[in-house]
Amino acid sequence: MLGTDPEWEAMEMKMRDRTVERGMSESVRTTMRCDAVFRSIDPRFDQINTLDCRRGNGADKITWAPPAFVSDLSRFHRRYSQAVQTDRPYRVAIVGSGPAGFYAAYRLLAKAENAVVDMYEKLPVPFGLVRYGVAPDHPEVKNCEEKFTEVAASPRFNFIGNVELGDKLPLHTLKPHYDAILFSYGAPKDKELGIPGEKAIRNVYSAREFVGWYNGLPEHRDLAPDLTTGENAVIIGQGNVALDVARILLSDVDALRKTDIADHALEELAKSKIKRVRVVGRRGPMQAAFTIKEIRELLQLPSVSFDPIPRDLLPPDDAMAALPRAQKRLMQLLAKGSTNDPATATKSWSLDFLLSPECLNWSPVHPYRLSHVRFSRNQLDPSDPYLPTAKVTPKYLSSGKPAQVDIPANTFFRSVGYKSLPIPGLEDIGVPFDTGRGVIPNDGFGRVTAPSNTGDNKRLPDGSLISHLPGLYCAGWVKRGPTGVIATTMTDAFTTADAIVSDLAGQQGKGSLLNSPGHSTGLGWEGVRPEAEKLGVHATTWGDWERIDAAEKEVGRQNGKIRSKFGRVEEMLDVLRS
Ligand SMILES: Cc1cc2nc3c(=O)[nH]c(=O)nc-3n(C[C@H](O)[C@H](O)[C@H](O)COP(=O)(O)OP(=O)(O)OC[C@H]3O[C@@H](n4cnc5c(N)ncnc54)[C@H](O)[C@@H]3O)c2cc1C
Ligand SMILES: NC(=O)c1ccc[n+]([C@@H]2O[C@H](COP(=O)([O-])OP(=O)(O)OC[C@H]3O[C@@H](n4cnc5c(N)ncnc54)[C@H](OP(=O)(O)O)[C@@H]3O)[C@@H](O)[C@H]2O)c1
Repeated sequence: MLGTDPEWEAMEMKMRDRTVERGMSESVRTTMRCDAVFRSIDPRFDQINTLDCRRGNGADKITWAPPAFVSDLSRFHRRYSQAVQTDRPYRVAIVGSGPAGFYAAYRLLAKAENAVVDMYEKLPVPFGLVRYGVAPDHPEVKNCEEKFTEVAASPRFNFIGNVELGDKLPLHTLKPHYDAILFSYGAPKDKELGIPGEKAIRNVYSAREFVGWYNGLPEHRDLAPDLTTGENAVIIGQGNVALDVARILLSDVDALRKTDIADHALEELAKSKIKRVRVVGRRGPMQAAFTIKEIRELLQLPSVSFDPIPRDLLPPDDAMAALPRAQKRLMQLLAKGSTNDPATATKSWSLDFLLSPECLNWSPVHPYRLSHVRFSRNQLDPSDPYLPTAKVTPKYLSSGKPAQVDIPANTFFRSVGYKSLPIPGLEDIGVPFDTGRGVIPNDGFGRVTAPSNTGDNKRLPDGSLISHLPGLYCAGWVKRGPTGVIATTMTDAFTTADAIVSDLAGQQGKGSLLNSPGHSTGLGWEGVRPEAEKLGVHATTWGDWERIDAAEKEVGRQNGKIRSKFGRVEEMLDVLRS
């Protein structure tokens, strides 16, 4: 519910008030110099300055033409690129247009009035997991797109879509033209289980791919999951993604028809034979990663029953009473279960605990078609089984053999977390990647760090030395790993943006820009574009997205839906050709 998030509103008000109160600080004086440049380029600058645009005061209705503005800016740069740094706008590249990128852009534009942000996105369309991850039956979560659209209305913001940094456009092409690069490209892969059968057997899917498929992500347009081979689905992992997948499988397909779910997914879900979904965790209820709202939604699905959780898995009454409020409410909800009668329900689901998948199996009758999953049973550390961090160990029978159980399954999803990878060429611009943690190493404030023995460095608690890599930053899932909701990502992106603003203002001492003085063209995208076009990379603008958006909504209107997403990049680009 970010669109009406009181924290956001309060923060926004505070920022506006601070801007008014600040008076003629050095940064404002610099801003005024930059504003004078913008004003000389386009007299409408004052009308569409970001701070004025933010609150529907009519300014956002002005038709703005970023390409003309940008190319005028580039003329200015060509004349003045060797000028003292503060005499031209700071150019910041943001890689990725999900919540981390947009919230960082919002904060940067609000706090550094002399910054111009170029946001690169591999798809022609923005918003990352808000568009392609958040479940279609959670439209209120997507309200943050309105905030992001307000950010994009700033004349100091450029959206550069359809440009994949790495393989398609080498990262080093950005470097000479920017003062800072912020990586917020999320976690585009997922973790595997590494068990026999995971790759070889049919009807085994990654939840990430399935989510992308039902949300219309072009990469997974052709996943074509077969939901017709039997009644039993098993999902491994007990996070909110697992619950999203379970809910989509269990929902009445008619309830999804009006959402923005992909049309191809609706077709397949309408044919689905799945009637029973098991969401399986390796630890206990107190250690599960899901949250109460998502559990409640599943428990309230019409005509879907829930298998009661064995009482001995939940904390006893006295331990339950002593739990912090949020955990207590979740445990009470799990203990209460669903009121839907299994006798009349058409589908059912369960949460199964203390089971680790060992291997996937097929029956001799249908080679390579999944028939059951073998699990080994676990036990929680008996010293404190209700601790959220409690670990498990394998359970053994009195014979000394491992305790195992087979669970029938026709369709299988692994939902054990997303994973970030290094963009190809990160190392060319000196950015390390921690493959173990799946993050870009950083100082917690989003400044990219590298091990160091010399220079201006800091000592970590383990005694090792790190140094900041000037002008390089990260935010969101690639900064802290693939966990956290949009609000967490917002806070995290604000932290990184504050670090950039502080560094740009020189508060961290010299050498905090990507290039040494006089070695940056300051041209941003205008400097990068010729090289991109030579490589056959053709960018889309925010205006292009607005056309795609309008076309999707129009097709959706004809189908009685919020929107019908184009499932292929070519279909999106066709809209722009028409
Ligand atoms: C299935 C799912 C459902 C979720 N549902 C909710 C929910 O209901 N509520 C909630 O609060 N949170 C939800 N979340 C969490 C939320 O989506 C994340 O906190 C947030 O999206 C992380 O933001 P990000 O910007 O780091 O990454 P992302 O949102 O993944 O954005 C990264 C962007 O970078 C782009 N990109 C990647 N590589 C490149 C490249 N090489 N060049 C250019 N661009 C690139 C991607 O296309 C993408 O647009 C959900 C997450 C998932 C996985
Ligand atoms: N509606 C929403 O608000 C919403 C919706 C979707 C996602 N999100 C957010 O997006 C983030 C990512 O969600 P997620 O579900 O992908 O990740 P997650 O919350 O980290 O959950 C991952 C789950 O996988 C399990 N797991 C990991 N490795 C495993 C293994 N080898 N074998 C068995 N189980 C394993 C974990 O169990 P252990 O704890 O035992 O490791 C955990 O239950 C979360 O912060 C989530 O809240 C929010």
